[in-house]
Amino acid sequence: MAAPGAIRLGVNIDHVATVRNARGGVHPDPVRAAQMAKAAGADGITAHLREDRRHIRDGDMVRLRSEVGLPLNFEMAATDEMIAMALDLRPHACCLVPERREERTTEGGLDAAGLAADLAPRIDALKGAGIRVSLFIAAETRQIEAAHALGAQIVELHTGAWCEHRLAGGDIAADGEFRRLMKGAQHAAALGLEVHAGHGLDYETAELIAGLPQVAELNIGHFLIGEAIFEGLDAVVRRMRAAIAKGQARALGQVA
Ligand code: PXP
Repeated sequence: MAAPGAIRLGVNIDHVATVRNARGGVHPDPVRAAQMAKAAGADGITAHLREDRRHIRDGDMVRLRSEVGLPLNFEMAATDEMIAMALDLRPHACCLVPERREERTTEGGLDAAGLAADLAPRIDALKGAGIRVSLFIAAETRQIEAAHALGAQIVELHTGAWCEHRLAGGDIAADGEFRRLMKGAQHAAALGLEVHAGHGLDYETAELIAGLPQVAELNIGHFLIGEAIFEGLDAVVRRMRAAIAKGQARALGQVA
């Protein structure tokens, strides 16, 4: 668990389910992965129940809620089916994401501004049930202001474009995408929104983004599960926690 004031690490275990589903059985079990992540210091578990159930299944969500003992962040499209499931499951938080069947992963941010009329009653229903609502958006003024106007408590800023830029060899700290994230985090926090970030993060990008003082939580999946093949899940969660702590400490002037 993170110390008070430390950035929380949410571990996304979707891709444990991807491997399980490749053979259609029950192994490897995403709930066991969540329990291991908890033992290694994760602060929360994120799982995306997609409309096509390509990785996480309904039963996984029920078990993640009852068998892990960490806050569950239910990532989902804002459809009637998913809202009904969330109201039944009562996770700690729901992160509303855009979803297209043909995409490999969540490719862009939610158009909170364009879809405001559709989102408003759904956000109200979740909040009415005591579920915290997070909107996964691009770090754009229009989307941040829409999230605020809709009454979401949290925005999760999409770090995918920045991380891809870095994979293409860009200078991660100095590029425009990073500046966009920095400004977005400042703007969202000034409006009173809790700021999370995620998508495509690895040790290096997590350490850098942990330097933004507004960031309260990072949600990380694919890299951790991929690295766990080589190093083990316990080791990679601990190493990610350390990278985040280092980035945060450097920003606070606690290390050179
Ligand atoms: N946050 C959100 C809202 C996401 O959609 C995803 C991907 O499922 C993640 C975080 C984790 O991204 P990654 O698996 O690339 O670390």
